[in-house]
Amino acid sequence: MSSPNNPTNQDTPPSTVRGAELASDFTSSLAVDRRMYREDIAASIAHARMLGTQSIIPNDDAAAIIAGLSEIRTEIEAGTFPWRPELEDIHMNVEARLFDLIGEVAGKLHTARSRNDQVATDFRLYAMRRATESLARCRRLQRALLDQAEKHRETLVPGYTHLQRAQPIVFGHVFMAYFEMLGRDAASFATARDSADVCPLGSGALAGTTYPIDREAVAHELGFSRISGNSMDAVSDRDFVLDYLFAAAKTMTHLSRLAEDIVIWSSQEFGFVRLSDRYSTGSSMMPQKRNPDYAELIRGKSGAVTGALMSMLMTLKGIPMTYNRDLQEDKRQLMEAADTADAALEAAAGMVSEMQVDTTRAAEAASAPALVATDIADRMVQGQGIPFRQAYAQVKAGDAANTPAVTARDSVEMRNVPGGTAPRQVAVAIMRAYGELNAAKLSGEW
Ligand code: ARG
Repeated sequence: MSSPNNPTNQDTPPSTVRGAELASDFTSSLAVDRRMYREDIAASIAHARMLGTQSIIPNDDAAAIIAGLSEIRTEIEAGTFPWRPELEDIHMNVEARLFDLIGEVAGKLHTARSRNDQVATDFRLYAMRRATESLARCRRLQRALLDQAEKHRETLVPGYTHLQRAQPIVFGHVFMAYFEMLGRDAASFATARDSADVCPLGSGALAGTTYPIDREAVAHELGFSRISGNSMDAVSDRDFVLDYLFAAAKTMTHLSRLAEDIVIWSSQEFGFVRLSDRYSTGSSMMPQKRNPDYAELIRGKSGAVTGALMSMLMTLKGIPMTYNRDLQEDKRQLMEAADTADAALEAAAGMVSEMQVDTTRAAEAASAPALVATDIADRMVQGQGIPFRQAYAQVKAGDAANTPAVTARDSVEMRNVPGGTAPRQVAVAIMRAYGELNAAKLSGEW
């Protein structure tokens, strides 16, 4: 609660006393970039090893640096690392600690390196890891969708356009539509990972370095597939961040659609699905309610992820060559968007796998006679050889006598075209999808 009498109030306006502290908060990135300590240390270890191998520094010094860096990693993971907020970022914190641990020889680590190529390297490694994780989560959600599709490949339900009942479909067909979307999202995360997969180390501050470094060796040790081709581009390129953010924003847009469908399906008016207790909450006042909070929050959080993409585009558009401090804003955007997207994927997977379809209610809604109007017109075309437009006009006018009745079941069976909703076509799609997911599993994607 914000009140002048509340001593815990954090929202006091900045006083001049706080001025210096605020200014350093403003320029610091430590709170954000400490999350990529593993990447920072791995990149420094690879760099130090290469400096030794290339005889740029003595091998003993390289070994001391590597041992010190490993110890720092242990300290950070044990929670004993002495963070120094007055040092602006993870790089300065690690380097300062290295001096504490191994003395002056620590000063040799930054030979043939700048924080500009260092931060680009760390962040690319970090982005590759997050893209790999998000991709795996897409696959897990696909699996949940696929299992529901398999369970409901015969379950009838109305399909909608304009949120008006249009034609009968099987419920499995809808789940498979979302399966397709998430497959494209997985591909987008793979693209993002690939665009991050370039090692900038060796670009120096912007122009390269005067030392006889081995860029390929460093890239190889860190698991990069290739090295950057232009030092100026390398220290200022953040396209991989845009690619990740685009993948995340697109995924969230898909999840938001799914969430919206789930809100609709689980409403009392529709009643096609029932959410599990874990993914719905009761109202504190109205005992009959099951609110789809998870679905609503997925929908609600999608805006922030799209916002991160917009924000990053805006940050990048005015940056002259080469590194400028604006670029420091990249990490917050990617990290927060990745946290949100991953949590939303996880929630969606759980919600989908636990929800129950009310097959009776769905089939009842699908059996409304109006839904088979197209099928009646189709039968008139096929049986009487009249043009479709004429049959359409007759059905619309209620003048379709002598036409055999068409059920919702007939209607879906008749749509036996590849990609159509006929249960046998849906079964084919499901089989192919299990094959794809298994192949992705075998390749270690999830
Ligand atoms: N904290 C900085 C960032 O995230 C590291 C690079 C600093 N480089 C510089 N020239 N000030 O971008």
